Amino acid sequence: MTTPHPRHIELAPDPQSLAEKAVQHFLAAARSALAERDCFRVAVSGGRTPRLFFDLLGQDPAARGLPWDRIHLFWTDERYVPRDSEDSNYKLVADTLLARIPIPAENVHAVPTEHADILGAARAYEQTLCRVFCLEEDQVPIFDLVLLGMGADGHTASLFPYTYAPFNTEDRVCAVFKPAGDINRITLTLPVLRVARQLLVVVSGADKAGTLHTVLTQEPDAVQYPIHGLWPVLEKMIWLVDREAGKRLETGN
Ligand code: 6PG
Repeated sequence: MTTPHPRHIELAPDPQSLAEKAVQHFLAAARSALAERDCFRVAVSGGRTPRLFFDLLGQDPAARGLPWDRIHLFWTDERYVPRDSEDSNYKLVADTLLARIPIPAENVHAVPTEHADILGAARAYEQTLCRVFCLEEDQVPIFDLVLLGMGADGHTASLFPYTYAPFNTEDRVCAVFKPAGDINRITLTLPVLRVARQLLVVVSGADKAGTLHTVLTQEPDAVQYPIHGLWPVLEKMIWLVDREAGKRLETGN
């Protein structure tokens, strides 16, 4: 019988207050990193959930007043589509946040999906990580904050159930090939996510309630639920959950 890990879960009544909580955690992480290292390096996820977060962050006076010249923005994962595609996680952030903050273009490190092939794009993104974090060959970038979501299938970033990506521990970035009709992805791998100083997992919506209950109450199974791949660093994870997503947690069944 394993002892249950401590879980830092913050419940929010609705998506708006969930996004507001995420803004406050982002600002706290930024201030802490800037105070300690004069630099804040953060990786954000895409999808539907964080749109409101990015929108509120871009309107927040405290956020707009951050020293964005000392902040580097990366993505945890990206769909292998052009940057102007509605499916692009870069476009999501560009439309909601980047248009409103004075971050230098050279500090915005989008996954280079304009690359002719997905493997080349993954390698190029990894080279950007090495450059910005001044990494030696086998070093892993230590983000100050990683903002993650969780899919209804228990995936996070683009680490999907029953795929190799969660277990490809040699690379810091890898390509993820999805079935025909879906979009191939590029993702940070578990070794990178695990060494982050803080992981903020934002989960919203009734469609996540069952999986969130399973993930937080059952023995870890990273093949079926790749977010369990982060269980070795559960103490660094903060879960922001709205009422719909957390309703199974409250009732315990
Ligand atoms: C993506 C995200 C992905 C997301 C989950 C949850 O590219 O879609 O990076 O990992 O966090 O799929 O997505 P929703 O917020 O849309 O439910």
